[in-house]
Amino acid sequence: MKKKLLVTTGGGDCPGLNAVIRGIVKRSLQEENWEVYGSIEAYTGVMREPKEIIHLDEKAVAGIHVKGGTIIGTTNKAGPFDWPVQQPDGSWITEDRSDWLVAELERMGFDAVISIGGDGSQKISQQLFEKGLKVVGVPKTIDNDLSATDYTFGFQTAVQVATEGFDKLVTTAESHSRVMVMEVMGRDAGWIALHTAIAGGAEICLIPEIPYDIQEVTARIRSRYAQRRGFVNIVIAEGAKPKGGDVVAKEVDEIGYQHVKLGGCGYRLIDQLEAAGLEASSRVTVLGHLQRGGTPTAFDRVLASQFGVKAFEMVLEGKFGRMAAYRNNTIIDVSLTEATETYNFVDPDSFLVRTARGLGISFGD
Ligand code: F6P
Repeated sequence: MKKKLLVTTGGGDCPGLNAVIRGIVKRSLQEENWEVYGSIEAYTGVMREPKEIIHLDEKAVAGIHVKGGTIIGTTNKAGPFDWPVQQPDGSWITEDRSDWLVAELERMGFDAVISIGGDGSQKISQQLFEKGLKVVGVPKTIDNDLSATDYTFGFQTAVQVATEGFDKLVTTAESHSRVMVMEVMGRDAGWIALHTAIAGGAEICLIPEIPYDIQEVTARIRSRYAQRRGFVNIVIAEGAKPKGGDVVAKEVDEIGYQHVKLGGCGYRLIDQLEAAGLEASSRVTVLGHLQRGGTPTAFDRVLASQFGVKAFEMVLEGKFGRMAAYRNNTIIDVSLTEATETYNFVDPDSFLVRTARGLGISFGD
């Protein structure tokens, strides 16, 4: 009888997920005794009745490396530790179904699981591993905020999308002598904003790691207008905050998905600038989920394919409780605990930040 591998994609989607799935399946086809299945929307496909598990054969993955999204769906709701259950009175509670899940996967005959996901998914994988699940992790996030890997797939695509958007905003800013603010993703880490600011040639870049002083930002804008370069392009990460202030966020209390939704710091920045006396005309563009959709760049396809092949080989080698990672231009594996220990923040003293400063980009500090 063939061995069975289950693949899941969890958390926010990310260009390159399909390339990972294809890499896993293609590599598995070179072994005689493995079959690969996908659970729809992370573990939901296993936990919900009727179950939604699909066979991932050669045909199912043909050509999918080019497509954004994930052919097996994803969710950031309803994990095995917070499974929503409706009560007779119509209200909802969440239950820890993790022990049941581990037993159920065994009953269904799965010999191993590859979980493709970000920080939250990898923490779930570690907890399930401790309960006996044979699980291998693959890192995923456009934010590039996982510390164990130099890059995550999807990040480069997001930067490309943001840079193309930024380039467009530069020409309209110039025509109208405006201050253009572009808000990009990046909850805790400002990687997308920083890369876009350098690639696009921003005047100002505001990131979570370097809280800004509105007077400094105002002064930088004024100096541009004084130099007769009468337009300014600003890129701001959604997690950016002023010195002594906080992020712009609202609490979302969805059942099985209690989280803080960021967004709107670009509009707050304009309000702050106007309060500080900004007279120039200004506009805000929130790039949002455009950064997560569409075709992955060639780099992300290559990185994702490497993760797919590596993850399957980790299963063959019995390297469970570990995650594939990209370090120093090669693919290695690290323990899930190491992978989720710390975030990958932008180091304000790094050469990348020095490069930005060297190019005259202000961080408003
Ligand atoms: O973690 C990736 C990310 O893109 C964040 O930058 C953003 O805050 C979040 O996902 C939004 O996710 P969603 O809209 O799916 O809840």
